[in-house]
This record gives sequence, C-alpha cells and structure tokens, in this order.
Amino acid sequence: MKVNGADYRTVWMKEGSVFLIEQNLLPFEFRVHESRSCAETCNAIRTMIVRGAGAIGAAAGFAMAQAFREAPHQGIREYTENARKDIEATRPTAQNLFYATERVFDAAKDSDDPRAAALSEAQKIADEDMERCRKIGEHGNGLIRNGFRVETHCNAGWLAFVDYGTALSPVYLAHRNGKKVSVYVDETRPRSQGARLTAWELRNEGVPHTILPDNAGAHMMSHGKIDMMIVGADRIAANGDTANKIGTLEKAIAAKEFGVPFYVAAPTSTFDLNCASGKDIPIEERSEEEVLYQTGPNSSGKMERILVCSPDSRALNPAFDVTPARYITGIITENGIVKPDKDSIKGLLSTGSF
Ligand code: MRU
Repeated sequence: MKVNGADYRTVWMKEGSVFLIEQNLLPFEFRVHESRSCAETCNAIRTMIVRGAGAIGAAAGFAMAQAFREAPHQGIREYTENARKDIEATRPTAQNLFYATERVFDAAKDSDDPRAAALSEAQKIADEDMERCRKIGEHGNGLIRNGFRVETHCNAGWLAFVDYGTALSPVYLAHRNGKKVSVYVDETRPRSQGARLTAWELRNEGVPHTILPDNAGAHMMSHGKIDMMIVGADRIAANGDTANKIGTLEKAIAAKEFGVPFYVAAPTSTFDLNCASGKDIPIEERSEEEVLYQTGPNSSGKMERILVCSPDSRALNPAFDVTPARYITGIITENGIVKPDKDSIKGLLSTGSF
C-alpha cells in the first residue's frame, strides 16, 4: 500500500524491533510506532496501535520472535512459553493471533538456532498474509460488476492485514481494473474503524466512498442501494459461523431479508476447526470507556477525548458478534470462494479444494 507516495506494510520487524502503523492516531496523524520488546508489542496489540485479524497475527508472530531473541540461553523454553501466554492474552477473538504464536513457537522450540528459526517463521507468516490477501482480491474481483455499490463494515482493508486487506482487496483490484465501484462504509461504533480507517484507506486509493451511520444499512438495502456486502472475519468456525466486528450480524440479517449477497473475505489462517460452531468463539468485551468517550483532534490539532453520553451512565462493549453461516453467501479465501458449510470448509482446509 502507498501512504503519501511511499510503500508501507502495516507491520514489519527490523533489528529486534517491531514497527507498526499507529492506528489510534489515524486518520488525523500518520506515525510509525516502534515496539522494542515482546512486552511492548503485546501492549501495542492490547491498546490497538495494531488491530485487525491479519495485522494482529503478524504482530503476534513477531512478538514471539522477540521473545526468543530476549530469552536467556538457560531457560529459553520457560521464558518463551510464558511469553506465548502473554501474547495470547492480549486479544481473544482473532484466530490469526493464535495461528501465528503456535507456528512460530513450534518452528523454534526444538531448533538448533531458535532465534533465527522464530524470526524466519514470523517473517514467513507476514509474507504469506500479504500474498493470501492479494489472491483474495483476485477471487473477489470476479464478483464485483461494473457500477456495483459495495457496503462494508469495520476495517478489513490493508490496515487490518500486512497489506491488501480482505474485504477491500477485491474492491481495490476492481477499481484498478477500471470498474466503476463505490463503497458504503459503516462507521462502526464505538471505535469507528469504518469512518476513520476504511474511509482513510479508500481515500488514499482514490475509491469513491460514502460513510453511513451504523444504523442506516437496512434502510439502504431496502431501497435497493446496495449491490453486495463484503466484510472481514476474526474467526470462522468449522460450520462457517463467522465472528466479525460487532454490528455485522444485524447487517447480515438485513442483507438476507432484502436479497443482498453477503460475502465474508478471509484467509485460511482465520478458520478454526477447534470451534465446531460460533458458540465456541470467545467474544472480547472491551472497556465501556470506548462507548462513553470519543477521541479526535481539537481545534489546535491535539488529540482529545470527550464524553459523548449521559454523564454517570454505564455502557456495555462487546467487540464482536457471530453471524450464523445461513446468512453468508460465500467465503472468499486465497484458494477461491467456499460455501459456508462443514464439508466445504473441511475440504478447503485439508486439500485446498472444495
Ligand atoms: O477490533 P479490531 O479492529 O481488531 O477488529 C477487527 C476488524 O477489523 C474486523 O472485525 C474485521 O472486519 C475483521 S479483521 C480484518
């Protein structure tokens, strides 16, 4: 992806530090954050300096590599096992995080050179994430017809992965291929990933877009103004039930009611066969502060937090919901578009065919 004319990835590692695009400051300020240790990278994941399933996964893989680098020669196993627990405790829903810690840990634990092995595996995960998202773009592009108005929820673009994104990757390719495509961006309260991040990405790419209040989707669909919906995923269960940003479920229900195709776009690293259905997916609860307050620049450009709710009221903040497979038209993966059912998913993950 290009930011101000320069090529960037969302997450990368160099000389022991993990570098992350600071997503809490976007779209108002573009800054790169440096995490010098595994503990600092854990903190960056927890505080959402880095967020989005694939980007969290890549950061978690690099955090694991930092742990192997930091570990004392005597007691490397104990140190890295504890670090793995710390990384996995940062955010519970995105499967890519667990996928990455497991892969890096397993690649390094019995190696003659665990530090080199961990770094090389983490790098591989980041590179694969990018390539998978690029392919998702190719498969999803075929679904987008000239003139399509696509609605999306949250941010599943390049900021949520190492590059390209999932839900937005097909849109970017369609746009680059000269198709007329526009995007309705759900604002995605409480953290406004749509209004802040997706809108910023689309503006950078020159894709026509309009931000929608979170509660406008059903209205737009009922008036025939949405041709298809594409969303990302944080974890997909064995039966196709899909966890994604809170608010996705009600969009999927509305889409079915009004005959709007509803696609999920995700790499195979987001599938979790240990979850038989969506009921097994852990849903993160975040602080009520994210609902009660909003953050943005004041008139002098300094970031400020203001109360936007009735003082002394309490709030609930479930960060994700689960869309049952029956609402999903198809899942766009790097290997093609799969039906959201047990057999098709099993086929996809065991042989790559379905
Ligand atoms: O809480 P976040 O911002 O890390 O949530 C992740 C998401 O961006 C969405 O749920 C997204 O649609 C799937 S991850 C690309």
